[in-house]
Amino acid sequence: MIFVTGGAGYIGSHTCVELLNAGYDVTVFDNFCNSNPEALKRVEQITQKKINLVEGDCRNRAAMVKVLKESGATAVIHFAGLKAVGESVEKPNAYYDNNVVGTLRLLEAMQECNVKTLVFSSSATVYGDPIKLPLTEDHPLAPTNPYGRSKWMIEEILRDLYHSDHAFKIAILRYFNPVGAHVSGLIGEDPQGIPNNLMPFVAQVAVGRRDSLSIWGSDYATPDGTGVRDYIHVVDLAIGHLKALEALRAINSEKMNSCLTINLGTGQGYSVLDVVRAYEKASNKRIPYQIAPRRLGDIAACYADPKRAFDMLGWQAKLGLDEMCANSWHWQSNNPSGYQQK
Ligand code: NAD
Ligand code: WQD
Repeated sequence: MIFVTGGAGYIGSHTCVELLNAGYDVTVFDNFCNSNPEALKRVEQITQKKINLVEGDCRNRAAMVKVLKESGATAVIHFAGLKAVGESVEKPNAYYDNNVVGTLRLLEAMQECNVKTLVFSSSATVYGDPIKLPLTEDHPLAPTNPYGRSKWMIEEILRDLYHSDHAFKIAILRYFNPVGAHVSGLIGEDPQGIPNNLMPFVAQVAVGRRDSLSIWGSDYATPDGTGVRDYIHVVDLAIGHLKALEALRAINSEKMNSCLTINLGTGQGYSVLDVVRAYEKASNKRIPYQIAPRRLGDIAACYADPKRAFDMLGWQAKLGLDEMCANSWHWQSNNPSGYQQK
């Protein structure tokens, strides 16, 4: 049984599909602060399997102890957390409380229940402004906002925990820019309010929910002047979690390093204009846009060196930008208002 915090969210729901399809039992623990239980009903529809769902908050240690014990969980995938960079600047306490304190409570609960295998959602945001590209895992860490610092702090906590107890098996996965949706069109990204991120914004323009896209800057030192990112299909990302779980399980000696830090990206950078063009092709819609000033805190380019993931997990991304856009569009056009039926 795998205990999945934040399993109703965007990446969590796609990972639940892959876990269930691979034969794992899944318990989702989520407070639905940024998700809808409907996502898990859809996961059950896709997989024809049942999820054990418990509504709860990761800052509640006792609640997690109870669920870990009752479910017989042997490993944890920890997605739960807040993730909006701008909001984290406005409300840093909320981010440190939810992300850092929530993780500490989870680790205490795991220790109490002797569950010592953990896959953690970190982010490429821990690198800050890249000194050198592509980003390797040993690049210096210099996050530039409270959200990123919360992820960096959690990483440090996990490394300290591992040094104190080598029975822990931990995979710290640094995601690049997850996009796209499950091929069924039944689950996908469903941001509340105005999307912060590029692809969900473009999707909402394509479906007619928003008039036009603002491109935040066209004067970067990139091939076409717009920001370059390593977009990764959410299904590839989900499969990366399974590979990480399997790799941790295969480590059978406390003498082997079992605290792994791994980039999950494709290694390929695409510009904002590349994404707009690919989305226009996938949706057969025009995406009107205007060039706007740079967004505060944005960097010119960011993409992964994904070699370690291949060497350590035998994982590499398979799906390209066209599939990311086609699957995003399938989800968005079938569910113009996300999980909220209108
Ligand atoms: P999401 O908001 O869709 O999912 C997070 C889930 O956690 C939601 O279902 C939310 O209700 C739940 N949650 C939040 N706080 C909780 C708490 N205290 N207790 C219980 N449940 C709680 O986000 P996502 O895009 O699926 O991201 C999952 C993880 O991956 C997050 O930790 C995020 O920081 C990280 N990450 C995301 C991205 C991205 O661009 N989407 C990139 C890098 C890292
Ligand atoms: C991508 C590109 C924008 C919106 C963020 C977080 C990061 C991680 C992933 C969690 C940039 C441009 C965007 C728009 C635009 N999340 N853009 N108009 O900023 O790389 O990463 O999400 O860990 O921590 O910082 O992703 O999708 O917001 O932006 O022009 O309306 O699209 O300037 O070049 P980002 P993004």
